[in-house]
Order: sequence, then C-alpha cells, then structure tokens
Amino acid sequence: MHDNIEKMNQRAQMLRAEIERHNYRYYVLDAPSIPDADYDQMLRELQQIEQSYPQLITADSPTQRVGAAPLKAFAQITHSIPMLSLSNAFEDPEVEAFDRRVREGLAADCVEYTAEPKFDGLAVSLRYENGVFKTGATRGDGYTGEDITLNLKTIRSIPLKLPVNHPPALLEVRGEVLMLKKDFLRLNQQQSAKGEKEFANPRNAAAGSLRQLDPGITATRHLTFFAYGVGQCDDAQLPQDTHHNMLRYLSSLHFPVSKECRAVTGLPGLLEYYRTIGAKRDDLPYAIDGVVYKVNSLLFQEKLGFVSRAPRFAIAHKFPAQEAMTQLLDIDVQVGRTGALTPVARLQPVFVGGVTVTNATLHNADEIERKDVRIGDTVIVRRAGDVIPEVVAVVAEKRPPGALVFTLPAHCPVCGAKAVRLPSEAVARCTGGLFCPAQRKQALLHFASRRAMDIEGLGDRLVDQLVDQAIVRTPADLYRLGIAALANLERMADKSANNIVNAIEKSKRTTLARFIYALGIRNVGEATAKDLAAHLGSLDRLMAADSERLQQIPDVGPVVAQSVADFFTEAHNREVIEQLRASGVQWDEHEGKSLLTGTAAPLSGKTFVLTGTLPTMSREEAKEKIEALGGKVSGSVSKKTDYVVVGADPGSKYDKAVSLGITLLDEAGLQALLQ
Ligand code: IVH
Repeated sequence: MHDNIEKMNQRAQMLRAEIERHNYRYYVLDAPSIPDADYDQMLRELQQIEQSYPQLITADSPTQRVGAAPLKAFAQITHSIPMLSLSNAFEDPEVEAFDRRVREGLAADCVEYTAEPKFDGLAVSLRYENGVFKTGATRGDGYTGEDITLNLKTIRSIPLKLPVNHPPALLEVRGEVLMLKKDFLRLNQQQSAKGEKEFANPRNAAAGSLRQLDPGITATRHLTFFAYGVGQCDDAQLPQDTHHNMLRYLSSLHFPVSKECRAVTGLPGLLEYYRTIGAKRDDLPYAIDGVVYKVNSLLFQEKLGFVSRAPRFAIAHKFPAQEAMTQLLDIDVQVGRTGALTPVARLQPVFVGGVTVTNATLHNADEIERKDVRIGDTVIVRRAGDVIPEVVAVVAEKRPPGALVFTLPAHCPVCGAKAVRLPSEAVARCTGGLFCPAQRKQALLHFASRRAMDIEGLGDRLVDQLVDQAIVRTPADLYRLGIAALANLERMADKSANNIVNAIEKSKRTTLARFIYALGIRNVGEATAKDLAAHLGSLDRLMAADSERLQQIPDVGPVVAQSVADFFTEAHNREVIEQLRASGVQWDEHEGKSLLTGTAAPLSGKTFVLTGTLPTMSREEAKEKIEALGGKVSGSVSKKTDYVVVGADPGSKYDKAVSLGITLLDEAGLQALLQ
C-alpha cells in the first residue's frame, strides 16, 4: 500500500511539472506543443490522484489554481520593500531633463537604459519561498496592499513553482496584472449577452476581476501577468549587474517578460524607443499607456537612489491619454448612406488621443440604453488610433439631477420618412431611400471616395451644396457637371471648379471592382466587390446573376447575394448605371474567373499578411499587386497564412508568424515573388 502511495506521489509530481511546463508554453510563450485534450487529460488524471489521496495535494499543484472558497474580506499585507511609483514625463524636453539629471548624478557622458512598455494594469507583488508561490498582494498605497494570493493563483502565466532544482530561499517578483485586449473584448461580449454591465477598458476589467472575493470568478476572467522587477530577495543567482539581465533571469524562471523590453543608449535611444512603441501600440496584444525608462546598471540605480516616493533612476514617458472625461451636451441623429440612424454625442470639447474631440458616436439606441447614457451626463470618451471617437461609459456618480433620457426619433430627422428597425438589426433606418437628401449625400460621397471612383475634391461641403441646390441627384449627374454650374457655388474659385471637372473626367477610367463598390450596394464592401468582379468579369453578367448564381462565388453568402440581386432589380438603379456608362465611365472586362486562375494567377490560393512599413511600396500598393496576381491579403495571421510580408517596426503579426513558422518575406522577397 505504501509503495502504491509513493508511486502515485511520483506520478503526481511528474504530472504537475508537465502541466506547468505546458501552461508556460501555452500562456507565456503562446506556443502550445500538445493538443488541449491531452492537457485536459493530464489535469484530470492529477485531480483523480489528489482526490483518492488527499494527503498528496500540494499548495503548488496546478489543481489548486481554481476551486478555492470565496473570502469574506482581503487580509492586509505589508510590503517589506515599499512599492513605489514613477515620475511621469509627457513631452520630449521632460525626458531630456531626466537624462541630464541621470548623467549629472553619475558624472557620465552617456547612459545605457532599459526601455519597457508601461503596462496599463495593476501592480502586484508575488512572493516565492523556496521556489513555491506563497503570497501575492496588490500595491495598495505602496506600503500595505491586499492579500490576493488565491486570485493570483488562477492566472496561468504566473508560475506556482519555479522550474529550477535549487530555488532561491526568497524571491519577490513585481509586475503588472492585465487583461489582453482579445480577452477584454470577449469578456465584454459575454457581459453584454448576459445583460450585465460592460467594462470601459481592459484596465478596469482587470481590476474588477482581480478584486473579486470569489476566486472562482477571477478564474473565468483570463488575466495575465508581466514581470518588470524584483522586490525582496535572497537569491544568489539573481544577476547583480543590469536590469536587463535581471529581466532575462526572470524570464528563465518562466515569468512572462514583455518581448518589447530593450536596452537602449542615451536620449536618442529613449526617444526612438518611444516612437517605435507608439507606432506599434495598437498592434500590441495588451494595453499600454506609455513606456518606462530605467537606468540599466543596477549599481548606478543604487547610486542615484530615490526622491520622496519615486526612483531617480527611472521615469514613465506617457502617451497622450486615449480616454478623457467630459460632459455630454446633447445627442444628435445622423443619417448614413444606407439610412442607418446613428446617435452622435455632442460633447464639451476635450483633448484626447492627441486631438480635440467634440463629437463621439453612441452607435445605436441599444447601446445608449445599455450604457444608460443621458443628456447632461459626464461620460468617458475614447479615441484610439484612427478609430472614430466613442462614448464608452457614463460616470454614474456625476449624473446631475434632471439628466435627460434620449429616445431615437420615429422619423428620419432629415427627410421625415418613417424610421424602421428590422428585428434582425441593431440600427433603425430611414425608409426614404435616395429621396432622403442625407442618404443621397452619403451615397455620392461614397461613390466619389478614394477606394471607389476616387474623385478628388468632391467632399462634404461641395456635396451638401450640390444636393441642397438640386444640381446633383444621382452619381450620373456628376458626369454632366460643367465648370459654369460649379463656379456659381459658394467658395468655389474657377480654378477649383476646373480641378473638380478634371477629377470627374479622370474617374471615368476605372476598374469593374471599383465601380461595383462605388454603387454602394448594401453589404458589398471592397473585398466583396473584388470577388464579384473577379468571378463574373463583366457588369452585365453581374446584373443578370440571380441569388443562386451569386452564391456560387466563394465568400458570397445568401445575405450578400440577396442584397446584390435586390439592387439590380430596382429599375432606378439600372437607369443610373446606364447613364453612367453612356457618359463614358468604363473599365476592362474579362471572362470572369479565367483571369484569376491558371498562369495569369500565379498567386491564386495564397494568403498574405502585411505588417510594418515597407521601404518603397505602400501597403495599398503591395496589396493591389498581390491581388492582381490572384493572391489574397488578410488582416490577421493564422495557420492558413502562406506568407507574412514584414517591413520596419512590424506589429504582433510578426511574432505570431514566427511562432507559427510561417514564411517571412521582406519587400525584396515579395518583389521576387511578384516577378
Ligand atoms: S517599475 C520603482 N515598470 O507604473 C518603480 N512600473 O507609477 C517601480 N508600471 O504602479 C515600477 N509598467 O503599476 C515599472 N514596465 C514597468 C511598468 C510599471 C507599468 C506601473 C506600475 C506602477 C506604476 C508606477
């Protein structure tokens, strides 16, 4: 019997080590080496052993990550070494001053730094005794935090046991708990499906998940951890020379360390790092709010020491905030090209994401209701990258008495036609069609847009005047415009009128795909327009195709097929198309598919992903060239990707491609393939 227990004990130990190793591969390296089912099987076997022999359960067993009972309250933990904060820099001169202070303090000409992302999560401290994770705490006020050990144990990228034979007696690892963007989006989808409140950003989601008294809830939330430092420590192995080597050491102990950490030299190195990471920011899998610079030499760090509560050897260089608080003054309703009524928040101007924002989208009536947005509320506005600013949440505590509930009007605010909402749709639409001036304007703007007919200079203001003065009703009318009609408009010099007439003339020579896209058929975006053009080869074949025929085209489903068929059934649409052709709008036609198969399409069936900046080609150009030879360009890397074309400062797509072993090409490699 005793023999049997010993055998089981050994088996359990082996399983624990294996499970943790696969945890590490899966959650830290993002490179699993066994199927999920095999992993689950190992975990089940371990659970069975521990159930039969409870005396074999250890605190560092992966089975102990979940299943702890809810707490009544968190206990307090005093940090043996305080968890300090960082001073902030926003502008380059502040970084310059930091570097100067450091150089003066060290009497050095040029200093080496480590530059790291500034993770937008929550600082925690993890204490390992003899290699086993014992306690974990929040930062709290820097001196005492809360004991959140049970919650931290549910985070799979945090090792429960250090993978070394002679573990340090004591090692306190410090870092940040955060929620990956993809897990945040998934969580919010789940919250919304359950009718529960969504989180405003990944940081709030991580905080809300980590501060749960029930670790069972935390376990469902998919949090992650990045290490950036060491607190108290009794470890002869810990590198004493540089911060960078210390991070490497933590990485060798299987702690996640950001791949973006770099050793850089002097002020130019710092600023270059800031710009590089800034450009990559949206592609990173986690949210960051800046970067952190730390003097690399640990000896120098000690020499520089601290001022009040912040180190002199480090500073955070923050990005312009992507979120800001402001007041919602009113809600207007905008009418889109397809008649969709979009509620738009009119805001007290606020500086966010590097620009002043006065309007933000509220998406649709359901969103307003779900977020409980009222006129007069203080709201959080977010503007990230090229994305349209949006209202993400209401600050409930700041609601003034008399804040007004908003209801979407039952009629189009522009043409007065009835607004209807199909049961399958989130938006209400104006039923005025092209009789609605708002829809007509949007249709014209879409027709003229860069990726459609590309009529330069035909913008909002001009289209407003042309439609309001009934000079232009349909796209076909554009091709009848003379200089005289244009020159009569407000703020229109002869020269600009001339330019516009030329741009319109130039747009006559186009491609079938652009023309189809320009028509603005519901559910037909650029990619679908290209598919339709490639597979049918001529507009007449497209106009004659019924829904069944259309569905034979790859990627065309019943909804798209029906929209296309409906569009061409309308006599009015056919008439406009005839007029356009009669005015000389033209493109090359072909026999369909044939263009994209055989020798003319050497890249057919191949999927490409582009990342980073190529030396001479723009992304658009590269895409067009690949597609012209039958290849497909996709936005994300998967096992199905054949090539990833990599330029300067690539994003996470590059890392993913490497981890999946996908063929990488630089611009020269792509050119060779295109030849
Ligand atoms: S080092 C003594 N490194 O920033 C300095 N902090 O204001 C200890 N943070 O509460 C911090 N990313 O939560 C450091 N790469 C990074 C960081 C980082 C985010 C947070 C941390 C801390 C705050 C400091």
